[in-house]
Amino acid sequence: MIKAVRGTRDLLPPDTALWNFVESAVRDVFRAYNFQEIRTPIFEATELFARGVGEDTDIVSKEMYSWVDRGRAESDRGQSLTLRPENTAGVVRAYIEHKLWDRGLNKLYYIGPQFRRERPQKGRYRQFFQIGAEVIGPASAGSESPARDAELLEMLATLLDRLGINAWTLELNSVGCPQDRAAFNEALRKALEPVVGQMCADCQRRAVSNPLRVFDCKVPEDQSIIATLPRISEFLDEKCESHFEAVKEILTKVGVPFSLNDRLVRGLDYYTRTAFEFTHGALGAQNAILGGGRYDGLSEALGGPAAPGIGFAIGEDRLVMSLQESAESVLRKPAVYIAPLGSGMNGEAARLARELRRHDVIAELGDETFRLKKSFEAATKAGAKYILIAGENEVKADAFALKNLATGEQISVPRTDLPQRLRE
Ligand code: HAM
Repeated sequence: MIKAVRGTRDLLPPDTALWNFVESAVRDVFRAYNFQEIRTPIFEATELFARGVGEDTDIVSKEMYSWVDRGRAESDRGQSLTLRPENTAGVVRAYIEHKLWDRGLNKLYYIGPQFRRERPQKGRYRQFFQIGAEVIGPASAGSESPARDAELLEMLATLLDRLGINAWTLELNSVGCPQDRAAFNEALRKALEPVVGQMCADCQRRAVSNPLRVFDCKVPEDQSIIATLPRISEFLDEKCESHFEAVKEILTKVGVPFSLNDRLVRGLDYYTRTAFEFTHGALGAQNAILGGGRYDGLSEALGGPAAPGIGFAIGEDRLVMSLQESAESVLRKPAVYIAPLGSGMNGEAARLARELRRHDVIAELGDETFRLKKSFEAATKAGAKYILIAGENEVKADAFALKNLATGEQISVPRTDLPQRLRE
């Protein structure tokens, strides 16, 4: 038997209803904050992620699905392509390619699959879905303002609250600008020198190439050493410090609670200044429901003009998982199962179903070859609230027997009253 590839999965009903519910709720919120949708390709040139996300990150060094796409002619050189492990680099590439700075401040969102070769476990997949947003534009359009950071975080708080997810924590940090980072990296390098020999092979590599990435280490034995390392908060220059203060001030003003975490550096190299994660207690080990931050130098790193930006991505799989318990109210079952009774009644039943569905009644349609008992079984299996019998007598009388499957109560309802009765 051929099965879905390890780390990928099928989303089946009724869960798909939950996914649709989430997507429609987030689209509503995006609309209220004046975000518009962008769709970028699912694969890009490998170089985009190497330059954008960073060679030393786990994502680029270990987790990408890359292949060489053959040239059209034997003589053409192949191009290395990669299934996108994230969508920020793609959006910034599109920003540059389409000169979106002409539009001033761009507020873009996306919903779609991403791919990382991680070890699969609960809440971690190799194909997973992100709902993300990016605010990007020239500094003259206000893209650098702490007001944008605060607005984005407030939108996320609103979104999670609206979905009924209230056990969240916003972890907030500033990772400073490139100069702060250089000083911090230097201090880390010094602090690591005498101890790195006791750390894992990855950390030994990171200590040389990109010491900041030591904070991505998950090896339990290394954690006591990592805890003694310098903190980025001690290296922020005045401008980064006051930018961060302004973000916190607005958040406090609008009543979005946050918890400061100066160990939060995020696993991608493009971050500057504000970095954040929302965690959720009920999710277990993979408790980051979303993450994001500012990336003021990313456009330039990809060959574009200066374009400060900030964004986030929600792990949709995890978001849906945290909603699963309260799912009942979202899953809409058929209001009515229409059972044609006797030969020649399929047409009458179809006409009735057409009328009801035009009134937004969820209707399931049976078949005239079913005996009444089988129709009742099918109606129960479909989870319908009512069964409606469409037999010759009913059609003649233009009134139909409607039976409540839970209570067993049965009444005769004139055709014209059916939509209203069934929408109750
Ligand atoms: P990220 O932290 O790598 O950030 O991913 C964001 C979220 O995607 C995570 O918090 C998690 O919920 C979900 N996620 C990541 N990997 C997996 C996986 N293997 N299985 C299930 N869910 C996963 C980014 O991707 C940045 N592009 C976010 C961003 C946008 N920063 C600025 N703009």
